[in-house]
Amino acid sequence: MLAKQKEGEIMSLMNNKLAISGGKAVRTREFPAWPQYDNSENKALIDILESGQWWRMANNAVEVFEKEFADYHNASSALAVSNGTHALEVALKTYGIGAGDEVIIPAFTFVSTALCVQNVGAKPILVDVDADTFNISPEKILAAITPKTKAIIPVHMAGHFVDYHKIQKIAESHNLFIIQDAAHAHGASINNNKVGDWQNIACFSFQNFKLMTAGEGGLLLFPSEELRETAFLYHNCGRPQNDKQYQHLVVGSNYRYSPFLAAILSQQLKRLPEQNALRHKNGLILADNISKISSVSMQQCRSEITTHPYYMAIFILDENINRDFVVAALNAEGIPAFNAYKPLYYLDSFLHDFADEDKSDITAMYKKACPVTDTIGSQGIWIHHRALLGNEQDIDDIIASFNKVLTSSHSELSVKKLETC
Ligand SMILES: Cc1ncc(COP(=O)(O)O)c(C=O)c1O
Repeated sequence: MLAKQKEGEIMSLMNNKLAISGGKAVRTREFPAWPQYDNSENKALIDILESGQWWRMANNAVEVFEKEFADYHNASSALAVSNGTHALEVALKTYGIGAGDEVIIPAFTFVSTALCVQNVGAKPILVDVDADTFNISPEKILAAITPKTKAIIPVHMAGHFVDYHKIQKIAESHNLFIIQDAAHAHGASINNNKVGDWQNIACFSFQNFKLMTAGEGGLLLFPSEELRETAFLYHNCGRPQNDKQYQHLVVGSNYRYSPFLAAILSQQLKRLPEQNALRHKNGLILADNISKISSVSMQQCRSEITTHPYYMAIFILDENINRDFVVAALNAEGIPAFNAYKPLYYLDSFLHDFADEDKSDITAMYKKACPVTDTIGSQGIWIHHRALLGNEQDIDDIIASFNKVLTSSHSELSVKKLETC
């Protein structure tokens, strides 16, 4: 009896001891795999292979997918391209944005939101994000507008729709284009309006981690056929559709998409609504439970959001918590957690366009102007959406792991503050 009690005590101690320190991990099972596919992808690929038509211009699989994706997002038309970065570049070129122009983007985003602007010769201007949604702050956009501003690229961070009424009002009153970076927002909606309801160009990515994927891929949604025609030229070496006379009307490039990949995406799109509904449900359960832990908060889902696809579950740890330790400890518990994006103003690629002697001043200026972004950069972590495609037990395990790590007495959990005198 005594031996059994002792065994129980040892087991409970082992369960509480962090896995990073040799304790028992909360999880030993894997979360659902990503990407997901079944025989329908197999068949779609074989069909293209056996058709003998492997090129966009010869096979209608790309156009079929474009129509399906545009219809699903309430857009007039779509153009699939090689990847999400290229989609943003083509959008900027379609609106005629280039050298001498400024484009406002959030300071907290994946680097491509800035690269696309730099790659067309324009200048990205960074704006801080809101502390609850991590989306670009409409109020702060206003202060960043200059006579050179031509466009705003709001990012639907992790799929949480931006405050589009406010952004649209600002854009209209200053005559600016809006290009939505919807790389995280397949099927996202606000008051039941999807990305295509916004009547401007929206750009998607189908890279391997995304909510639908063919390994690589990108797409632009348009509110009108005319815009698609211009974009088509830029993505097709300047050449119109069905041209047989070697007309090259603009300085374009080759961003054409492959029918093989489009055929995969047509199948992926069929699963998206159900997967989004599951991630939305699990994301809200996770956010509710995480809010009960004192040293961490999760991206909020505002009440007007009708579909939050949770491309990522993003969390911010209190400033006294050692982020790198928490990520390593969660990984050891079996949770696929990662550090959040670094703020753009720390990246060599962003600073490249400034003179060497100005770089540290630019970083310092943006660090001061973007306190929320700066906090996410040092204290933010994220979990990939595949973990939200699991069942109740999977979500419980994420919550239990956060609780276990953040309430532990491990000496590395807190950031050691330097003594000041
Ligand atoms: C917000 C955002 N924009 C743009 C992109 C670029 O997409 P791609 O990787 O397909 O070029 C990504 C990709 O991760 C992204 O997260």
